[in-house]
Amino acid sequence: MKSQALRDIATKIFADSKGLLAMDESTPTCNKRFSSVGIPQTEEARRAYRGLIVTTQGLGECIGGAILYDETIRQHKKDGTPFVKVLTEAGIVPGIKVDRGAKDLAGHPGEKVTEGLDGLRDRLAEYFQMGTRFAKWRAVIAIGDGLPSWGSIEANAHALARYAALCQEAGLVPVVEPEVLVDGEHTLEQCYDVTDEVLRTVFSELFAQRVMLDGMILKPNMVLPGLSCPNQKAVEEVADATVKCLLRAVPAAVPAIAFLSGGQTPELASARLNEMNVRFKSQLPWALAFSFARAIQQPALELWKGRDENVLAAQQALYHRARCNQAARRGEYSQEMEKG
Ligand code: 13P
Repeated sequence: MKSQALRDIATKIFADSKGLLAMDESTPTCNKRFSSVGIPQTEEARRAYRGLIVTTQGLGECIGGAILYDETIRQHKKDGTPFVKVLTEAGIVPGIKVDRGAKDLAGHPGEKVTEGLDGLRDRLAEYFQMGTRFAKWRAVIAIGDGLPSWGSIEANAHALARYAALCQEAGLVPVVEPEVLVDGEHTLEQCYDVTDEVLRTVFSELFAQRVMLDGMILKPNMVLPGLSCPNQKAVEEVADATVKCLLRAVPAAVPAIAFLSGGQTPELASARLNEMNVRFKSQLPWALAFSFARAIQQPALELWKGRDENVLAAQQALYHRARCNQAARRGEYSQEMEKG
């Protein structure tokens, strides 16, 4: 019964080749993005920006769910309409980031573990009452000299599984996000090996915690060379490596895999997702979708600059990126879409 309700939420989010919009930057992260383009770092600026996003005309045609942050879920449009209501009326399922951030992992220099399990049951109940139907928890795994350690993979996978089980108990679909970071000089092959080990460990822990795999969403990284690796790869190689890794590690019961963008340019993120669907869509047990933050929002943020007169142009840029990624889900994205 409950598992059917969870499946229905996931189906609704990804219907019509839609995907997720991550707009759940914590306050410090949102402020960092604002400061990089000269926008004041105030609560009102964050409210105005999130309002710009949720009121974008037509967004619900290509976005099935939006991930909010605790501050945002309590915010309203200027006329008093809660953002959650605006999203719901646009056919977009509201979701919420529920982790409390990645903190240094004791005994593991250079590694983090995501916190937030204490009191999570009560917070999930409140978020359900507020109208959310899914949640997100992000774990980060760094590749480096001797990293990642087994201890960090295991600790993060365990926390993800504990979180996911609590979400399902509360009637929320868990978005399980183990992010292998793109920073560093590592090769695509190293990213493949680490992502493979991380995903296998995550699914082993999800199984141990009795998480219903058909009522969750996986949010992984694409398999990429590190940003400082001299040997960057063509879109086709990234698509092949990523899908091969996922096919070997992700059970077929999972309804959808929605990638994070991880600092890729918006165009590359769309092109890589598109290539995966062009080459493999007919052979995959799960939907291959997107849950991008920067790769959907960045052009809009740069256009907005915190000014009212730029709102429409920013909304058009946001809608355009959402459209491109919907096309990428269908394997119908092309460079042509970026012209004009
Ligand atoms: P990016 O797409 O910018 O990597 O963000 C996705 C996200 O939600 C990180 O948790």
